Amino acid sequence: MSKYNLVEVDTLDFLTIVNDEMDNISHSPNPAVKAGGSFMHIPLTDVQNPQAYGGAKKQMRMDNICCGAHGLSLMITVTRGNTKHTLLFDAGPEEEIFEKNASRLRADLGSVEHIHLSHYHRDHSGGLLKAIRMINSARPAGASPVTVDLHPNRPEFRGINAGGLPITLEADPTFDEVERAGGIVTKNADAHTALDDTFFISGEIPRITPYEQGIPGGIRLDKADGEWQPDPLIMEERFTMVNLKGKGLVLFTGCSHAGVINAIIHASEMLPNVPMYAVVGGYHLADAPDEKIQKTVSDFQDLSPKILMPGHCSGWRFKNAWDRVNPGGMVPVFAGQRYTL
Ligand SMILES: [Fe+2]
Repeated sequence: MSKYNLVEVDTLDFLTIVNDEMDNISHSPNPAVKAGGSFMHIPLTDVQNPQAYGGAKKQMRMDNICCGAHGLSLMITVTRGNTKHTLLFDAGPEEEIFEKNASRLRADLGSVEHIHLSHYHRDHSGGLLKAIRMINSARPAGASPVTVDLHPNRPEFRGINAGGLPITLEADPTFDEVERAGGIVTKNADAHTALDDTFFISGEIPRITPYEQGIPGGIRLDKADGEWQPDPLIMEERFTMVNLKGKGLVLFTGCSHAGVINAIIHASEMLPNVPMYAVVGGYHLADAPDEKIQKTVSDFQDLSPKILMPGHCSGWRFKNAWDRVNPGGMVPVFAGQRYTL
């Protein structure tokens, strides 16, 4: 029995607002997942003078197509009976790309009630303040501002140790900045549910597998006049999960610094009686040694989630390796696509 009352939802779809790769042509190779797979899902605009275009009344404009960017932002919508809830999982690396892609997709940002930031890395938080402002200005009259679910342990800066020299990322938005942008900050280190128990947001993910060791050379700074500290494990990373009726758990992982296999193990411990159905997001295997990729493939085979949906930092080498052992089962995630599971 789980102590978390994660209720089943009837439907689940998500819109990929930001992702490293985009591909508007490939269709979903797995019939269990519906995806765009055609240029025809791109919003069309009206032609003002059809006679000048041989009678064509609609135009497909290139400036209605999303752009790829290093980062992740997924707008996840579930329904349960007559209720519908939308959660924004991460906000991509910069404000401009979030605004550009959300606008080009005609994303219904006013439906977003809750934002979950998976961890403090700028490729997930850089668009956050813009996302909050866009969501709040699109919220229906009288609706409460968007809630922003953050881990309390925010570093001042995150970085990478390059042969003894610290290289810093841009700072993640502060709690004050989130509030000034109009977000209602809720700080959570522990697992909980959100939006009428339709979403599960994890606490700390235990590190079980011997080969998932985080980011080599990862560092953090907690005071501007302090010293950079080793921080390969990014312990504040959290995942989001949904229980889709008749199918099972759908796990959304931001960057999998905890290890994507560790995330699945923890998710299954939280909801032990529900099978793992799909794993969506960044697996962080793009820079992994071949041996780690092979161990991950092998553990995926043992844990047997039905559908892998790698995106962001997963890397083409893992996707290639997985497709060889499970041809046609994987549905890679691309920017600008809506996926229905
Ligand atoms: Fe990332």
